[in-house]
Amino acid sequence: MHPEHSITLLITGGAGFIGSNFIQYWHKKFPNDQIRNLDALTYAGTLENLKSVENESEYSFIKGSITNQEVVDHAMAGVDIVVHFAAETHVDRSILDPQIFLKTNVIGTQVLLDAALKSKVKRFHHISTDEVFGTLELGQPGKFSEKTPYNPRSPYAASKAGSDHLVRAYGETYGLPYTISNCSNNYGPHQFPEKLVGLAITNSIDGDKVPVYGDGLQVRDWLYVLDHCSAIECIILSDQLNTTFLVGGETIETTNLEVIKYILKAMEIPESNIEYVTDRAGHDRKYSVDWSHINKTLGWKPSVTLQEGLNKTIEWYRANEAWWRPLKEQNQAYFKTQYQDRK
Ligand SMILES: NC(=O)c1ccc[n+]([C@@H]2O[C@H](COP(=O)([O-])OP(=O)(O)OC[C@H]3O[C@@H](n4cnc5c(N)ncnc54)[C@H](O)[C@@H]3O)[C@@H](O)[C@H]2O)c1
Repeated sequence: MHPEHSITLLITGGAGFIGSNFIQYWHKKFPNDQIRNLDALTYAGTLENLKSVENESEYSFIKGSITNQEVVDHAMAGVDIVVHFAAETHVDRSILDPQIFLKTNVIGTQVLLDAALKSKVKRFHHISTDEVFGTLELGQPGKFSEKTPYNPRSPYAASKAGSDHLVRAYGETYGLPYTISNCSNNYGPHQFPEKLVGLAITNSIDGDKVPVYGDGLQVRDWLYVLDHCSAIECIILSDQLNTTFLVGGETIETTNLEVIKYILKAMEIPESNIEYVTDRAGHDRKYSVDWSHINKTLGWKPSVTLQEGLNKTIEWYRANEAWWRPLKEQNQAYFKTQYQDRK
């Protein structure tokens, strides 16, 4: 596709972390494309994320839920490509209250799929997670691949697995042209400061303790959010349809504790600021992603190392206190239950 060619994209959940990065990324690269953002503006979504595009004629915002068929039908009219980010996304919150995860992630996806079929979209790209595969064993080799069987272990992961199955079922049953990407943990600018990296950086800026679940030896694969955006670009501009790609970052195994220690060192904060709290129930020990399929098929690979990405992210949170401070203040009750009450 040529940059001058204009298409219409429907982005769901574009006011959240990855969706807002993607909208800005896409608008910069393909300024003639129409971008429609459908977002319910839950606690995780804020239009502050989209200041740079809000006045552009190619960008429009629709406030509404993906579970509302009428709103979704209206948003879907004339759309070429859907990139579906909207979801309830935080594992800890899914443990406290699973039902909303099922409503948004499963029913919301089904409502979108129906509308996409009716509108005859050219591609429905579904954003999913490596958490649908369950957990790997610490100290054992092996990575998730496109062939790994599903084995979700949290209500969040189960709801995302349900949505992945639905997308494939609509492809098989009704012929909907789709693609799915399952990616590892994202980090970077505009991430709600409840997730590990944003929480560690913002707590450190405030001189507060940095909580670590259990022994902190959980291994994750870390994907810088703009590398995720370039992977989505590769997929949706390709001719690959009705297939799945795994997307990951660093291949070197890194524990959560190592990530936190790196952040503290980079911010010149002593490690004594780490505070061990009771582990998350059913906490998966290890995720590791084999992204060789997207690399071989589409030539994509991550562009930054974990350290480079963390340095950029620290810089961003330092420069954007006005963005994250109100979010943290509005969610004080949640942070208290989640961390202070678990010491
Ligand atoms: N963040 C990660 O590390 C990660 C990793 C793997 C996969 N994913 C997937 O990527 C997608 C985006 O994740 P994120 O981290 O940007 O999430 P986020 O929580 O930052 O943003 C989610 C967005 O969806 C919106 N939303 C929630 N419910 C909605 C509804 N019913 N209707 C319309 N909008 C609604 C929210 O308002 C918010 O803007 C999700 O599908 C998630 O499962 C995220």
